Amino acid sequence: MNIPFLDLKAQQRRIEPELRRRLEAVLAHCQFVLGPEVAELETALAAFCGAAHCVSVSSGTDALQIAMMAEGIGANDAVFLPSFTYTATAEVPLLLGATPVFVDVDPRTFQIDPAHLQARIADVRAAGRLRPRALIGVDLFGQPADWPSLSAIAARENLFTIDDCAQSFGASLAGQKLGRAADATAVSFFPSKPFGAYGDGGALFTESAERAALYRSLRTHGEGTTRYEVLRTGMNGRLDTLQAAVLLAKLTVFPEELAIRERIASIYDRRLGNVVTIPARVPDSASAWAIYSILLPDAASRDRVQAALKVSGVPTAIYYPRPLHRQPAYAEHHDGAALPVSEDLAGRILALPLHPDLSNEAIDFICDSVVTTLK
Ligand SMILES: Cc1ncc(COP(=O)(O)O)c(C=O)c1O
Repeated sequence: MNIPFLDLKAQQRRIEPELRRRLEAVLAHCQFVLGPEVAELETALAAFCGAAHCVSVSSGTDALQIAMMAEGIGANDAVFLPSFTYTATAEVPLLLGATPVFVDVDPRTFQIDPAHLQARIADVRAAGRLRPRALIGVDLFGQPADWPSLSAIAARENLFTIDDCAQSFGASLAGQKLGRAADATAVSFFPSKPFGAYGDGGALFTESAERAALYRSLRTHGEGTTRYEVLRTGMNGRLDTLQAAVLLAKLTVFPEELAIRERIASIYDRRLGNVVTIPARVPDSASAWAIYSILLPDAASRDRVQAALKVSGVPTAIYYPRPLHRQPAYAEHHDGAALPVSEDLAGRILALPLHPDLSNEAIDFICDSVVTTLK
């Protein structure tokens, strides 16, 4: 059986008429930068997640960067973030001269651990070298982070909150879609994400009209009310019109795709829950199921299961084989605090295929293969 880890071709076949109609409209008007589809997408996405403002940008990384530039985050600022995440979360504070402070994650949900965040803020205050300034909470693998706890800590400690929702647009917490859980929400439209474009793209969501205006200025070289008035140092951070057109086509099927992802995750839960550790669900949430990761007992069994699944034709992936505080680029910025859960997960975690075009036969085959390799 040939099972793709991700099947963008199958999805393309499903949405082809709408996709072509959207792309041809752009080819006809030729407004490739900030064409009408960009504003249409921003309005549609803000409505989709119930946020007051959406500002589309060139990638999830640039969304994080613009959110931090808007607050003037930089030298001597501590930015708290989980160690068990994608590199971009730590890269952006460093690019701006700030210091990432790595926080451990919950062993069951894999999300940033609020109790450890509180302890890490105390570490930074005690050391007295950096000013605790911001929290980047990551909604990992499609599930929301524990935003009620994180927001309470941030309010007490006077931290600006950024939701790194790169992987999890479409997820919800307490019946409310992510997009307004933090002061700013950064989303990625990288093609492999649940809501992905055909190239790089991203968006920022905020409840503040002032911040939205600042984000728009920053994504276009810090421009003011006229094109050649430069008010601040900005960047070239716009979303291409063609990508907006692709995303508008995909938005027509996105809610249905989220439901299919949930159905597949529930089958994995039911079929695999007795043989491996399955991801614990964040209470009162709905996941976008970007990634479904199981935990094996140890690194040797993870590697053995991955190799056996490969032989059977089941592709898998490891997110993430190394926590960020152990990466060569970031180790020198780490204060040495122990982050045992992130280290443990990196050795035992394994992601199974999960996408809306996975057939019932493929799901069965994947479950049977996992069960067989563990016997
Ligand atoms: C957690 C997280 N943050 C940020 C990013 C960066 O997004 P992009 O690739 O669109 O720059 C990603 C992308 O994979 C991610 O997974």
